Amino acid sequence: MKKPDYLFLVCNSYRVAGDAQGFCNKQGAVSFLQYITEECADRGIDAVVTTTACLSVCSQGPVLVVQPNNYWYGGVTQDRIDEILDALEEGKAVEEYLIA
Ligand code: FES
Repeated sequence: MKKPDYLFLVCNSYRVAGDAQGFCNKQGAVSFLQYITEECADRGIDAVVTTTACLSVCSQGPVLVVQPNNYWYGGVTQDRIDEILDALEEGKAVEEYLIA
């Protein structure tokens, strides 16, 4: 199996039981899935994009984690995703959006 270079984890606030609910979901995080997937395809970034349960940093949401770099981003917006992907293509993080 060919593994992707990157794994994007978009918090969508899933709970153990029941539907997605919580800060990241309410902030529209689910819409980031398609956006990141399309941007990665356009940029030639080999990635899988998926959602997660609550990552327990709700106060800093919406949250996006980029692996294998272990970059945890907070306050994610579509504009910030563009910056995050720009930086990733340069092998960097956008330090100001990283969750401390
Ligand atoms: S709902 Fe996203 S970190 Fe908790």
